[in-house]
Formats: sequence, C-alpha cells, structure tokens
Amino acid sequence: MSAVLRPAPSFEPMSEADLRRVLEIEENLYEFPWTLGNFRDSLRAGYDCWVVRDGKQLIGYAVLMLAAGEAHLLNLSVAAHAQRRGHGRTLLNDVVGVARERDAKVLFLEVRPTNEGGQRLYTRYGFRQIGVAIWKRWGSLPCGSCADAARFDPTFLRRRFRQARFRLRGP
Ligand SMILES: CC(C)(COP(=O)(O)OP(=O)(O)OC[C@H]1O[C@@H](n2cnc3c(N)ncnc32)[C@H](O)[C@@H]1OP(=O)(O)O)[C@@H](O)C(=O)NCCC(=O)NCCS
Repeated sequence: MSAVLRPAPSFEPMSEADLRRVLEIEENLYEFPWTLGNFRDSLRAGYDCWVVRDGKQLIGYAVLMLAAGEAHLLNLSVAAHAQRRGHGRTLLNDVVGVARERDAKVLFLEVRPTNEGGQRLYTRYGFRQIGVAIWKRWGSLPCGSCADAARFDPTFLRRRFRQARFRLRGP
C-alpha cells in the first residue's frame, strides 16, 4: 500500500478574481463583514492581499498594510470548515514573513476581546496587548466595517521583529 501525499496549501497574492469567494467566506464569518468595496479598495490601494488555497479551493485570506517600517494586519480569516487545522497559524506566519521581507520592524493588529480563537492565535504567536481602542466612547465610527469595533472596544496587539531576515515561503 502506498501513501498519497497531499500538497501543502499555497500562499498567493489575491486577485480581483478571488473576491467573490473571499466575500463569501467573510460574510459567513463576521456579523459586520468587510464589503466587496473594502477588499477591492485594498487591492487597488496596493495593500498586501494574500489568499491560501488548498488545492483549487480558496480557504483563507489576509490583508496587510505596510508603511514606514510598520505593518498593520487589517484582516486574517480562515473559512469555517477549514478552521482548527493549522491554516490560521501558517497564514499568520506567511504574512509576518511578507512584513519582514518588506522591512517592517513591527506588526500591529486589532482583535475583539471576545474573540477567543483570535486572541489565542496571536498571543501564542508572540503578540502582546498594547492598548484598547475606544471607538465605543467616541460615539462615531471611521467606516462601516468598524461597526463591530463600536460594540467591543477591540484590543490592540503588537509584535516587534528582530533584525534577522528570513525567506518567504513561495508558491
Ligand atoms: C482566528 C482564525 C484565523 C484561526 O484560524 P485557524 O485556522 O482555526 O487557526 P489554527 O488551526 O491555525 O490554530 C492556531 C491556534 O489558534 C488558537 N485557536 C484557533 N481557533 C481557536 C478557537 N476556536 N478557540 C481557541 N483557540 C483557538 C489555538 O491556540 C490554536 O492552536 P492549537 O490548535 O495548537 O491550540 C479563525 O478562527 C478565523 O478565521 N476566525 C474568524 C475571523 C477572525 O476572528 N480572525 C482573526 C481576528 S481579526
């Protein structure tokens, strides 16, 4: 009997052709999902937008904004049916690799305090809480996709990078 090895999921740049599936996953995961416009604007603005494919199936994605040595992880999601199999950690690792390749010294992100999976994923990866957003107290929101933040006062997490560089896992 011979074992059949499954190829590892691929990590690739997101394209406009991926947006339909990305939005399908997004709308299934979040009460206040990003819109098609949010993803399209991110692509057109040149943010680092990536997808994970298991075979031909898109199962996860991430959006990273980079500027002046800082990276901001704006979205990282794994389709519900593919969760708890290590894809989230691998995707986070790949996104951190991109940030470091682009000379980011630090990566920031926000996560709801009630998001146990997200909190554990990030803190076990070495992110540390540095503050709490105060959208709720401001009473006004910068954008529609921040409606979720209005109710939860998300925590800000940060991970600093050492200088040593490492190579991207390429497709
Ligand atoms: C958070 C998310 C990206 C994790 O993806 P995933 O593929 O399920 O994560 P992994 O299987 O790689 O798990 C990595 C670690 O994260 C933590 N984790 C992930 N899901 C968890 C859950 N539901 N409960 C508790 N811990 C969880 C665990 O520490 C896990 O390690 P372990 O399995 O060795 O205990 C995924 O649940 C998701 O997309 N959620 C909805 C969107 C979201 O909340 N995004 C992040 C906030 S912006």
